[in-house]
Amino acid sequence: MDAAVTPVHKSKIKCERRTFLFVCCVTIGTLLMFAYYESITPSTRDKLHFKPQFNITGTDVMVFLHIQKTGGSTFGRHLVHDLNIECMKKNHTRVSNSHSCFRPNTMDPTWLFSRFSSGWKCGLHADWTSLKECVHTKVPSLPQGERKYHYFTILREPVARYLSEWKHVSRGATWKLSYILCNGAKRQLPICYSGWDWTNVTLEEFMDCTENPACNRQTWMLSDLRLVSCDGNGLSRDEMDSIMLQSAKENIMDMPFFGLTERQKDSKFLFEYTFDLKFKVDFIDHNQTYASAVRLDNVTMEGIKNRNKLDIELYKFAVELFDQRLEQAKMNMNQS
Ligand SMILES: *[C@@H]1O[C@H](CO)[C@@H](O)[C@H](O)[C@H]1NC(C)=O
Ligand SMILES: *[C@@H]1O[C@H](CO)[C@@H](O)[C@H](O)[C@H]1NC(C)=O
Ligand SMILES: *[C@@H]1O[C@H](CO)[C@@H](O)[C@H](O)[C@H]1NC(C)=O
Ligand SMILES: *[C@@H]1O[C@H](CO)[C@@H](O)[C@H](O)[C@H]1NC(C)=O
Ligand SMILES: *[C@@H]1O[C@H](CO)[C@@H](O)[C@H](O)[C@H]1NC(C)=O
Repeated sequence: MDAAVTPVHKSKIKCERRTFLFVCCVTIGTLLMFAYYESITPSTRDKLHFKPQFNITGTDVMVFLHIQKTGGSTFGRHLVHDLNIECMKKNHTRVSNSHSCFRPNTMDPTWLFSRFSSGWKCGLHADWTSLKECVHTKVPSLPQGERKYHYFTILREPVARYLSEWKHVSRGATWKLSYILCNGAKRQLPICYSGWDWTNVTLEEFMDCTENPACNRQTWMLSDLRLVSCDGNGLSRDEMDSIMLQSAKENIMDMPFFGLTERQKDSKFLFEYTFDLKFKVDFIDHNQTYASAVRLDNVTMEGIKNRNKLDIELYKFAVELFDQRLEQAKMNMNQS
């Protein structure tokens, strides 16, 4: 008997068609996902191909977004001590680190907005949103036109940064004066302790505070919080997280420069390349920090990673972007 089209065959053909459709759908889906993913990867979106001109002799301003425990103070001191720029201590009678650094051949210090030059004029360790809403109100306005602001920051491996913040808080740091300026309103940050400070806090207690601003600090401090109504009102946790992470990625892509704590020498090179300035000293790659001396069991380590998921993803993205920019900068240097 000719077994041409038995029910079994039919169902097999049907099945093959289904498989074909399924494969098609998966392929198209994958392509769409890839296209979307591509749209937010560093390679296609980064603007490193044009090097934004920082005009120090004009009216441009460099804004240092200093996130806690990323080595920002060290970098900030380099900015006022070690650049090929003329600086002057602000008050000789006072034990202070504040310096005025001037645009070449002027007494105009407005080019640098940072802790050791302008001070914390927009709040202690001001985040991206606060700076965007505040910096232009603290820098003398121009008779005509807008100033060009060049933001930059330094990112650090998130587990080490979180541990370092815990250590710092347990030694008595509070950052009580920190606030977020968002849509014109000042918001206090959540405080995890009662009493004056959180001296001697254990890592367990530090981790138990779910509202701890140390969690994913780099992501929330680098994102535009106006996109989540400043406090996430009306959004689920997941929605808020993904909007903040996406925004933080975009904001670091928009920064002409950002550094990595673990890559001091490379960060120095990229800063110099981007802004056409030179440091008079070498930077040192530290590989021993307080954080690296902390020994953790697996459960604690997983707990910390869970509390810093966004930062871990942001940092991964940042390292990739940093490497691309570094490679590009070295290529451009060799060509010129
Ligand atoms: C920088 O700004 C100064 C003063 O506005 C201007 O004269 C100069 O042409 C600018 N330089 C560049 C490279 O744009
Ligand atoms: C410099 O610091 C001293 C001591 O803190 C203070 O008395 C003085 O007013 C300060 N001078 C200026 C110009 O700020
Ligand atoms: C913190 O711990 C140290 C060492 O155990 C102790 O000397 C100090 O009194 C503690 N401080 C507070 C505020 O509990
Ligand atoms: C620390 O960094 C130095 C300089 O980059 C390197 O030579 C050394 O091997 C590093 N040490 C460790 C333990 O990673
Ligand atoms: C901790 O994690 C390491 C690496 O993942 C694993 O080899 C080790 O067995 C774990 N230890 C415990 C106590 O779970």
